[in-house]
Amino acid sequence: MLRHFLRDDDLSPAEQAEILDLADRLKTDPLGSDVLAGQSVAVIFEKNSTRTRMSFEVGIHQLGGQPLVVDGRMMQLGREETIEDTSRVLSRYAHAVVWRTFAQARIDAMASASSVPVVNALTDEFHPCQVLADLQTIRERHGRLAGLTLTYLGDGANNMAHSLLVGGATAGLHVRVGAPAGFAPLPWVLDAARKRAAETGGSVELFDQPQASVEGADVLVTDSWTSMGQENDGKDRVSPFRPFQINAGLLAATGNTDVTVLHCLPAHRGWEITDEVLDGPASAVFDEAENRLHAQKALLSWLLGKR
Ligand code: CP
Ligand code: NVA
Repeated sequence: MLRHFLRDDDLSPAEQAEILDLADRLKTDPLGSDVLAGQSVAVIFEKNSTRTRMSFEVGIHQLGGQPLVVDGRMMQLGREETIEDTSRVLSRYAHAVVWRTFAQARIDAMASASSVPVVNALTDEFHPCQVLADLQTIRERHGRLAGLTLTYLGDGANNMAHSLLVGGATAGLHVRVGAPAGFAPLPWVLDAARKRAAETGGSVELFDQPQASVEGADVLVTDSWTSMGQENDGKDRVSPFRPFQINAGLLAATGNTDVTVLHCLPAHRGWEITDEVLDGPASAVFDEAENRLHAQKALLSWLLGKR
């Protein structure tokens, strides 16, 4: 059956766990699989990228496949060709399509006309590949996922907050979002996360005060206060967020000496996170960046039916 990965709850809890197990196996044996031999994967970007681009390109190569990495702004898609016509054509060349774009509706349209798996490499609403890597990293540090408490601090309405809510609830995490007024997650995303949490024993909670949101947390996560495409949205994206910065004080406020700090990167050092924390012992951000490679290789192997 044709499967896509457009948002975190496109995977069931059992499927997510299966992919994370495969990611761990691929991490110990990076060149041990050639499941993409003879296959090509289109990897298309309409926004900037360092990690996503490199990790998909390297990962597809390591699996024996051919990555076709293209700047979407240079495609006919960037002129007047429709998403659906583009998708029909890509399905004739590639065995999967990985796309970084703007509105989620765009990737939904790509998937609707595709006869090959479509993978969300970041939209305005979700960043599900990142959260697979985050979950892999948390499990490496803590030995488990279900039952842990994760607090995301910052813009609660961005792609990382949304994917951590839905993907975290799928893994049975207690997911908290600490965000200033006006930056709460979108209601339909909260509904999706709560639905998943009800199945897995996880939970979802919102806070508008940073201290309360981190108390007892096992994992703290933050992200840029201004996501790509929001640079000129007219909102003050600095002063409301300052109290939500991950710094030594907020780390101590967890009351937990074994806390892990994640950031999908790129980081704005001194804004959403201090150098001291990013470069300190609680930080797993560079393991997290590495795990993009392993988690995405596992995802592609699984989507292309080589399980
Ligand atoms: N974390 C992440 O997606 O990084 P890039 O924007 O560099 O791909
Ligand atoms: N929320 C950020 C994530 C970057 C990887 C953005 O969309 O710009």
